[in-house]
Amino acid sequence: MKRSLLLAQALMAWPTAPALAADPVNGERLARRWCAACHVVSEKQTGTVSEAPPFPVVARRPDFSERAVAFFLLDPHPKMPDMALTRAEAADLAAYIATMK
Ligand code: HEC
Repeated sequence: MKRSLLLAQALMAWPTAPALAADPVNGERLARRWCAACHVVSEKQTGTVSEAPPFPVVARRPDFSERAVAFFLLDPHPKMPDMALTRAEAADLAAYIATMK
């Protein structure tokens, strides 16, 4: 909760939000490749690292925002490896997560 607030504030201070002509299909491909080791990345997948929130859970949070997730992914927090995603990739991943709302 605290982090989402910080995120929201960071977003508002961020002058150029990513262009969200995002591609959720590419996002799913990226998620399976880069994120599935820790996260449940789809409704079908089972089993995960307990600490990492499943993407369907992230998507259904009341404060979920595609922009916030895309922004979050560009600046990974310490528990996640720096995946050096491009803005387009981060937006695609966020768009993919949003499909699970
Ligand atoms: C090495 C394990 C690992 C990998 C790989 C990983 N994550 Fe995470 N992720 C975590 C953990 C652990 C958390 C929870 C950290 C926390 O609450 O501090 C997290 C949290 C998140 C969150 C939730 C942030 C929030 O608001 O609670 C999102 C969204 C997320 N990851 C997306 C991704 C995406 C997209 C990828 C692939 C590009 C990815 N993660 C790859 C471990 C990982």
